Amino acid sequence: MELSLRDECHRQITYLRLSITDRCNLRCFYCSPVQDLIKLPHADILRYEELLHLSRLSLRLGFNKIRVTGGEPLIRLGVENFLASLIQLPDSPEICLTTNGVLLAEKAAGLWQSGLRRLNISLDSLQRQRFARITGSDLLSRVWEGIQTVQALGFSPIKINCVVLRGLNDDEILDFARLSLEYPWHIRFIEFMPIGQLSRWRQDYYVSADDMRLQLLQLGQLEEIPSEANAGPAQRFRYPGAPGEIGLISPLSHHFCHLCNRLRLTADGRLRPCLLGDAEIDLKAPLRAGADDDTLQELIRQAVRIKPVQHHMDRDFLTPCRRSMTSIGG
Ligand code: GTP
Ligand code: 5AD
Ligand code: SF4
Repeated sequence: MELSLRDECHRQITYLRLSITDRCNLRCFYCSPVQDLIKLPHADILRYEELLHLSRLSLRLGFNKIRVTGGEPLIRLGVENFLASLIQLPDSPEICLTTNGVLLAEKAAGLWQSGLRRLNISLDSLQRQRFARITGSDLLSRVWEGIQTVQALGFSPIKINCVVLRGLNDDEILDFARLSLEYPWHIRFIEFMPIGQLSRWRQDYYVSADDMRLQLLQLGQLEEIPSEANAGPAQRFRYPGAPGEIGLISPLSHHFCHLCNRLRLTADGRLRPCLLGDAEIDLKAPLRAGADDDTLQELIRQAVRIKPVQHHMDRDFLTPCRRSMTSIGG
């Protein structure tokens, strides 16, 4: 049994992101295509047993962190039991969930019972009408209630993801940053990326992490927090004495590809070595054709071998990847 997967750039690949559905109950500006895509037929979406089998094989290859994403993962029936099964897999992998928060208030107790503790929640405006404009639904109060519910239950860490969009929410950076003075949350500001051929990406909406940092300095000095092993792509900071953190995620202006430790499994069972590249390796077909564990593990190793050194997108030269964000899961 191999205990770790290293690629040719000496990156240790330990983090698997599972998109468990391409469906979503919001239509966020930065994520949704300009026109609704045809949804994957249910039969094309990996079943929970298939996801568990592939997760087990990945853990045996040395993965130690699995993030469940979507679309919106909480709309898939039975997600709590699936999470409980992931958490009980051998070697106690770190299990995390990324959600838009709409169903959090009603699902929080079940998620807690499943054993899940680590949550990333998308929140792009603290103003009701803005939130409705960015997500297509007037549900800010529901998401806020969800965040307060999981905070009260003791989930930790809670990370808040805010994609900063010029003219839409960039004047709220300090309001978001102030949340880190009040709560132990990680408030993460993300650069808008062009993902999906029908993406609404335009240079005008783009705000660089350096510009975000300049705004953040108006609230106080930022102390840098060193990254831990298995940390995500955020550069982390804290205002002196604050219970929470600030994170800057800068995929376009200062990419973090040299530290990338992840593979992504799309909702229809394809392994993607890079979020922003279109190369994929199909696991679903061989899995459903009865491939044995060695064959499937070899395909996972192959995905690691073809992981690009870095992506080649910058804000002046853009070829958005073909797939939309909803079936990759961020
Ligand atoms: P943590 O492990 O909690 O830090 O999570 P994460 O940042 O990996 O996960 P999350 O689902 O919260 O993702 C936050 C956002 O960061 C993603 O949706 C992307 O916008 C960006 N991001 C995360 N990983 C990558 C990556 O490998 N490449 C690029 N270009 N962007 C990424
Ligand atoms: N650019 C940057 N971040 C994005 N997300 C979704 N689409 C984009 C995009 N085009 C982020 C959301 C969500 C995470 C899973 O992905 O903030 O929290
Ligand atoms: Fe928004 Fe996430 Fe849904 Fe995309 S998948 S529309 S980021 S909530």
